[in-house]
Amino acid sequence: MSQYTSYKNILFLGDITGRLGRYVVRDLIDIIKNQNFNSKEILEFEVDFNTVKNIDFFIANCENASGGFGLTKKNYDDLCAIGIQALTGGNHIWDKSEIFSYINEAKNLVCPINAPNNLPGFRLRYFDIDNYKLAVLSVLGRTFMPPVNSFWEILPLKFEEIKLITPNILIDFHAEATAEKICFGKWASEFGVSCVLGTHTHVQTADEEILNNKTAYITDVGFCGPKNSVIGMDYEVSCKRLSLNLPTRNSIVKKGIAIASGVIVTFDMLSGCAIKISRLKFIKKYNNEEII
Ligand SMILES: [Fe+2]
Ligand SMILES: [Fe+2]
Repeated sequence: MSQYTSYKNILFLGDITGRLGRYVVRDLIDIIKNQNFNSKEILEFEVDFNTVKNIDFFIANCENASGGFGLTKKNYDDLCAIGIQALTGGNHIWDKSEIFSYINEAKNLVCPINAPNNLPGFRLRYFDIDNYKLAVLSVLGRTFMPPVNSFWEILPLKFEEIKLITPNILIDFHAEATAEKICFGKWASEFGVSCVLGTHTHVQTADEEILNNKTAYITDVGFCGPKNSVIGMDYEVSCKRLSLNLPTRNSIVKKGIAIASGVIVTFDMLSGCAIKISRLKFIKKYNNEEII
């Protein structure tokens, strides 16, 4: 959109999972930036085409970007280089031990605000979109999830702090339970949060809406990764693991068809209100030789 309007379009992509996830996100962003929507390589592209042509800011969850678990320095650098301006974490963000060596310099990465205090990383960051500021938070759910601090207690003070700087607040709510996600969305809306986007289940829901004429909400935006899989992992291995209750190692799918899932949110950045939310689904096939 023009730099002279306060309306900005933000594309948020769900958990980037492994190589196929990184590749499909790279290609989607390339298509958007080059307005190459008729590319023959696209198998499916469901999106609001009027909006996707004018993306002002790219953001994605990256907790599974490296082999399905965590984020290496190389993958962090690559995701920034392809044009993702903000990256959010999740319960897996610290899984690759090398993250401890670079996380304090990773300026585009936002880690869960209610994760245990001893873990390093920025827990709140402000990003510039033309003349406006966007505060980005990652929050972990507490139902059917590893134990974390109470976001109910942490966030009200944090919202006050943020509002002194900007009315635009985007939260990646990384959680398992649908009820907790819906409840959190309504609660955050009462505090004037602009946007609550669910992640973690890797399955896109169809319940996007604007709450209280203010807050863009969806229970889960879905994921970016291998389409023919069990939330990114190999079906045979998942089946064995789940049916036999054995501690089989998860194995990520590395070839075939990839899906990128996300939402586009239109903000009025002067007021901090979300105006519109629409889902995106992009599917592309990868030959083996493309996977390096
Ligand atoms: Fe995930
Ligand atoms: Fe997760």
